[in-house]
Parts: sequence; C-alpha cells; structure tokens
Amino acid sequence: MKLHCRMLAGLLSIGMLAASLSGCGAGGNDHRRIIRIGHNQATDHPTNIALVAFEEYIESKLGDKYNVEVYPSELLGSQTDMVQLTQTGAIDFCVASNSILETFSENYTLFNLPYLFASAEAYHMSMDDTEIADPIFESTKQAGFEAVTWIDAGTRNFYTVSTPIETPADLKGLKIRVQQSPTNVEMMRLLGGSATPMGFGEVYTALQSKVIDGAENNEMALTSNGHGDVCKYYSYDMHQMIPDILIGNCAFLDGLPEDERAIFEEGFELVNSVEREEWVKAVEAAKNKAENEQGVSFLYPDTKPFQEICESMHASMLEQYQDLKPIYEKIQEYNAQYPSEAE
Ligand code: GCU
Repeated sequence: MKLHCRMLAGLLSIGMLAASLSGCGAGGNDHRRIIRIGHNQATDHPTNIALVAFEEYIESKLGDKYNVEVYPSELLGSQTDMVQLTQTGAIDFCVASNSILETFSENYTLFNLPYLFASAEAYHMSMDDTEIADPIFESTKQAGFEAVTWIDAGTRNFYTVSTPIETPADLKGLKIRVQQSPTNVEMMRLLGGSATPMGFGEVYTALQSKVIDGAENNEMALTSNGHGDVCKYYSYDMHQMIPDILIGNCAFLDGLPEDERAIFEEGFELVNSVEREEWVKAVEAAKNKAENEQGVSFLYPDTKPFQEICESMHASMLEQYQDLKPIYEKIQEYNAQYPSEAE
C-alpha cells in the first residue's frame, strides 16, 4: 500500500499524469474537470467528512462542470509531497498542517508557536479574524498556492509508550516524534526531549518498533491512527494549537469565473464549519475509546512549567520576523478577552 502511494505521488510529481490532471474527465463523454483534493487522515476523520461535504456542495451547484475527488490517507503522498503537488497544479487542493507550511513561508511560523493561544476560544476567534489570517494565508501566492480556509486540529499534547509525562523533566532523554518544522524541533530542544522529525504516516511503526518513545498530537492520533494501541500515557500539557490549512493552487483559483469562485468560497466556508462541528464530537469519542478500549491513561500536569520554558520562543520569533508583530499583538487581544481556564 505504502509503495503504491509513493509510486502514485511520484508519478504525479513528475507530471506523467499531467494530461489527465489538467482537466479532462473520466473519459468517454465525461468532459467534467476533475478536481483532486488530497489529505492524510482516515475516512472517518472530521477532515474527510468536511471535504466530502465540499465535494457534494460543489457538485450540487456545478456538477455539470466539475467532478471533485477526495483522496484520504496519504494516497497522494505525505503532506510535504501534497503541498508540492498543489504548488505545481498537479493536484488542485490539499490539507497540510500549519507546521509543514512553515518551510514554504516563514509567516506560518507564528501559528506554530507553543502556547500562542490562551484558550480554544482565543484560538478560534484569532483564526476566524481575517486581519490575522489573511496576511499569512496569502503569503505563498508567489509560490503558486494559497490557503482557502483553516481546519481545527485541537490541542497538541505529549503521549508516550511507557513514561508518564508530569513535568518537563520527564521528557529528558526521550525520543519524541515532532512534525517537520524548525519551530517544533526548537520547542523539543528547550523542553529537554530529543526531537525526531518524521512524516505522520511513519509514526505508528516508529512507536511500535521503539525507534521513538513517544509523540505529540491531538487525541484523534490515539484512535484514528492507532497510536493509543502502543502509547499508554497522554499528558495534557497543551503545548500547541496548530491549525490544519486547506490550500489551493492559485492558477486554478484565479482562473475560475467570478460566479463559480463565489460558489467555491461558500464551499471553503462549509469545510470549516462542518469540520469544526464534527471535531467536537470526534474528540469526545476518541477520548472515550482511548480510555476504555485502548487502556490509555489521561494525565493533567501543571502546564505552567512547560509554558515558562517555551516563553522565550515568542520574543525570538518576533525579533526574527518583525512583520508578524502586529498580528501577534492582535492575538494577544483575544488572549486577554478569552484567557486560559486555568487562570
Ligand atoms: C494532526 C494534524 C495533521 C498532521 C498530524 C501530524 O493529525 O491534523 O495535519 O499531519 O497531526 O502530526 O503530522
């Protein structure tokens, strides 16, 4: 399966399928433009449910012109592969973690900062505020893609095979998988663990074979990706709220006639709202399953010591990327309005 996925991604990236990707339908009399959307989650995940809602919406309005195809489970490759495919127009859309986008535009660094948002409300309000999101979402236009909406991916926390994490000191000497972004590697360095960057699809095997001692993610990784079969401790240190981002190829988006573009924009809003609604239910179900069927213990450490260690990253980021300062300040206003429940 893995080989098949990689081969497919390889074929796509070298453009061998360019003819079919550039717009013909399934053959015969079907002249509809195929729109390909890739992501790395399973079919029962909120992201997939939302994209299928998008598919249905676009086809209900423009079904004579477009045939939308959603490819889940890394079928089109890793997130990094899929971003590159979207960039060149080999596919039209994909979902990538904000972490991955940091290597395509440094502006995305902002949303990867540990403890950037004081609460889920502050996070949601900030991401919904176009003054905050737009300058970042539009920053990759030159590179050929742009963000069309954000997708909630909850809060990231540490989980380990056999070591309960109660304080940052417990991370010492542990190999922890992080997403491939400089910010995440730096965060782990400060917290004292050993950062092991790798793609999402490789994490389960790495945990099982003890190449790594743990990882960090939202609760869905325990169930939807089976990590809770191997990892028995999940610690709510709440270090990041990193959104997923739906990105689209600029040439495709800019080429849409105005009336069709308006329908696509409604579709993007639908992705956001359906996913957020599904997310709340999915996380609750994941927690139940992890606790009751997989035997995962949920721990609630004091988050302050973790937060204090990461604090210096805010000042260094602002110093390095001064243009991001006004956006950072705007987020602080939401933080003041919606403070952490722990305070
Ligand atoms: C979450 C997130 C994905 C990301 C994954 C990861 O599942 O929604 O976009 O790829 O974490 O840790 O890589």
